[in-house]
Order: sequence, then C-alpha cells, then structure tokens
Amino acid sequence: MARNSGPVLDVQKLQVSFRVETGLLKAVDGLDLVLEPGEVLGIVGESGSGKSVSMLSITDLIKKENRDTSGTARFLGADSVPRDLLTMSRDGLGKIRGKDIGFVFQNPMSSLNPTMRVGNQIAEGMLHHGAATRSDVKEKVVGLLDKVGIREPAKRYFSYPHELSGGMRQRVMIAMALSCNPKLLIADEPTTALDVTVEKQILELMMKMKDELGLSIIMITHNLPVALNYCDRILVMYAGKVMETGTALDLVSHPGHPYTKALFSSNLELGKRGTRVEPIKGNIPPLTHLPTGCRFHPRCPLATDKCRNEAPPAAAVNGGGTGPDDHLAYCHYPL
Ligand SMILES: Nc1ncnc2c1ncn2[C@@H]1O[C@H](COP(=O)(O)OP(=O)(O)O)[C@@H](O)[C@H]1O
Ligand SMILES: [Mg+2]
Repeated sequence: MARNSGPVLDVQKLQVSFRVETGLLKAVDGLDLVLEPGEVLGIVGESGSGKSVSMLSITDLIKKENRDTSGTARFLGADSVPRDLLTMSRDGLGKIRGKDIGFVFQNPMSSLNPTMRVGNQIAEGMLHHGAATRSDVKEKVVGLLDKVGIREPAKRYFSYPHELSGGMRQRVMIAMALSCNPKLLIADEPTTALDVTVEKQILELMMKMKDELGLSIIMITHNLPVALNYCDRILVMYAGKVMETGTALDLVSHPGHPYTKALFSSNLELGKRGTRVEPIKGNIPPLTHLPTGCRFHPRCPLATDKCRNEAPPAAAVNGGGTGPDDHLAYCHYPL
C-alpha cells in the first residue's frame, strides 16, 4: 500500500443526518477539514452547530440506528497508510480508536469508570492495544501520570475518579488519551467544566504534550478566545456548515463572516472590563427545517434577498486567495 506523509486527517463532504420524529435533522452538511501533522485545528461555534457530531460520527462514537453518514474521512495511521474511517470495519476502527486517535471530553466523570482505580483504567487500555505488557504497565502508567503533572503519581494510581479534583480528572483523561502514543488527539470542550485558572493549566499541558509527542490536535470549543489562543487554524461552524476558515491571526485581525464577528462580540472573555457583551440575537434554526440560502440569514444584520435565496460560495477575505489554506468566508458579502 502507498505510504503517505500528507495530512493526518482529511475529511471531505462530510454529511451527518439523524432521522428524528420531526424529520431529517441535518447535523453536519458538507464539512471539509484538513489537519496537517503537528497542527492544532479549532472547531468553533455555538452549541448545536454540529461540532461534536462531526468528530464523533467519523470515529463511530454515536449510535448508528438513526444516523446517515456520507463523505470521506481519511486518517493517516501509525503505519503512515491513509485509510477512510467511514468505510472501515468495526474491528479496524476499534484498533485505531483509543490508540492512534485519543479523546478528551468535557466531562471526565462520564468517561471514567467510577468504580475502578484510575491507574487500572489507563493500564487496561494500554494492555488492550499492546502499548504495555503485564510486567511494565504499572511503571508506564505511573510515568504517564507524572508526565501530565499529577503529584505523587504512584499513590494517585490507586485513586478512584471521585477522589480527584476536576482538573486532576482531566489530567487523567489526557494521560489515558496519550497512553498508546496517538497521532491525533480530539479534545471536545476539554475545559468547559473547569474554572479559568485550571482551564489554562490543562490547555497548556495539552500544548506541551503536542510538542513533546508530535501530536496533531482537533480542539472543539464554543469559546472563541480559547481557540484563538491555542489553535493554528480555525473552522467556524454554524447550523452544520462551515461559515469561515482561516488562521487564528486571520480571524482576529479581520473576521470575514458576520457570524464570526457576532461570535467575537458575544464572547465575555473578549469584552473589556466594564463593557457590555451582546449575545447573538435569535437562535440556531431547527436543523430539521433549515432556512433557505445562507442559514445565518435570519440572524444576520446584513442579510439581503440574495442571502435569503442563494447559498453563498466560498469568498476570499481581506484580499486573499481562495485555496483551501486561505482565509475564506461562506458569505455573499464578506466583511
Ligand atoms: N444521536 C442523535 N440523534 C439526533 N440528533 C442528534 C444526535 N446527536 C446530536 N444530535 C443533534 O445534532 C445537532 C448537532 O449537535 P452537536 O454536534 O452535539 O453540537 P455542538 O456543536 O454543540 O457540539 C444538535 O441539534 C443535536 O441535538
Ligand atoms: Mg459539542
């Protein structure tokens, strides 16, 4: 098979819909995403934009019964052979998930087994994926706990999740995600449940691990300032579609989509002390009954008839080009 040193993950035309009582719920509608080695890619948008569904569907972590998924999601595994996660067998994906792809979720309590010592939980995964043997697994787990900044790691190995603070539990999740030397880390709202001081520590730990281990990271967050601080490139999603893509610097210096601009002014962390922060008026439309044209048009202060009727193509922002790495807004009237 051909070896490849291209993107770690290359998702094209990803569509995910759910058959629900009120119709067909289009959670993700034509997502393209390319993650290069060593890159941190942010997926940002309000709650319900399809951020989690996009990553959970390609890794088959949401049940299939009422879900239709199409497109391609080529992942470059440890053997440097790209494979489409969407056509892979259950067994094949099981070998990749938790090994070549590690996950950190918002709530470690729902991902960790409350009745099992945290060290044993990490050990179990490593033994399952052949990342350790019975004789060296404990030493390796203690080493990992130390690496993620857990004090007295040999003692903490025997702790139950409820005996740890939120920040420590998230460190355990990170240790678990990294335990089998993944190439890709998917972090879905990794710090949403934490206070700002601990949030910063956890994000900085993830960046340190990225540099030490040569990881690539997809960071899902509704928090635009977090994405701007830690991501190289950002996809802004709204109601299942990408609205804008560009580097963090592109987005800060010149947001091209009215939605991105609205997200900026709705984010508390960016508001100067004493200034009022405006939430974006209106709500995400029901994904079973999407608006015609640009799906942001009902909330957009600049919308015209064209926006109501025609889906906008990619437009170059700020005098740039329209290549996949350029700064693009899916808007008829980019700012
Ligand atoms: N298993 C499911 N069945 C039906 N609808 C779902 C399912 N999972 C998610 N959804 C819907 O898909 C949409 C996108 O959800 P999600 O990706 O979780 O948003 P977010 O951007 O907040 O991560 C939401 O409307 C959500 O209710
Ligand atoms: Mg989510």
